[in-house]
Amino acid sequence: MCNVGTQPFGVLNLLVRAPVLIPRPETEDWTMRLAQFIRPTPTKPVNLLDLCTGSGCIPLLLCRLWPPGSVRATGVDISQDAIQLSYDNARVSEVHVPSDNLPSPPTEPPIPAQNTFLPLLANIRDPAFARHSGLCPPFDVITSNPPYISREEYDNLPTSVRDFEDARALLGDPDPGHEQGCGLTFYHEIAQLVARDGFLSDNGILAVEVGQGQAKSVERILLDANMKATAIWKDPWEIERVVVASKDPARLS
Ligand SMILES: C[S@@+](CC[C@H](N)C(=O)[O-])C[C@H]1O[C@@H](n2cnc3c(N)ncnc32)[C@H](O)[C@@H]1O
Repeated sequence: MCNVGTQPFGVLNLLVRAPVLIPRPETEDWTMRLAQFIRPTPTKPVNLLDLCTGSGCIPLLLCRLWPPGSVRATGVDISQDAIQLSYDNARVSEVHVPSDNLPSPPTEPPIPAQNTFLPLLANIRDPAFARHSGLCPPFDVITSNPPYISREEYDNLPTSVRDFEDARALLGDPDPGHEQGCGLTFYHEIAQLVARDGFLSDNGILAVEVGQGQAKSVERILLDANMKATAIWKDPWEIERVVVASKDPARLS
């Protein structure tokens, strides 16, 4: 498969390749804001999980913005093309990929002075996903830009987008018969994951990108899943774009 180009994403210049979603400026914006908001250090490192990682843009930018030795990231995607691209992007971004392809236990500090990114092929909607052998919870930070476009919006997208990008990267309600789900299916799945004991740390942070008009519904879904506090971040165009949540209200105050 050939590269079709590159896309700036913060300090990174990422490879882009069909059919993997091209990282968007709104995602770049909140990822940089999250980097300022959390600020891990080598003495207080974080274990990060990025669900629906695509090109790997979110965890790779955090790996580059946070000090060496302060983050161990895992990025999960259902698409082999995405996992290969995120691996290639780790290489061009000079972010270390563990050679044995297995995450080290979160109790161990990261390899000295290195942030790491592990790409993992998995279906986050698989009931066995949380017990997936490649995962090492608890996670201190969970990020996601999941598919969130409704079927109606998808049908109205320009053909240039539909031809380049995998429908799995865009359609928020992928199951036949669930076309009326308002694009929220993945937020329900993510809520179920973070509600599980020991998946998100008690003072961990969840940050999910949402589509226009979805923020309030996603807040409700997360509060119903045992999150104790939420905040909504707007994008540079004043659109409610990210829901941040935690089981520890002090983390968001
Ligand atoms: C909107 S794209 C986001 C990609 C990247 N995080 C970004 O911000 O550019 C959503 C991604 O979710 C992946 N995906 C869709 N269904 C999935 C599933 N059930 N499990 C894991 N990943 C999935 C798609 O392959 C796609 O790469």
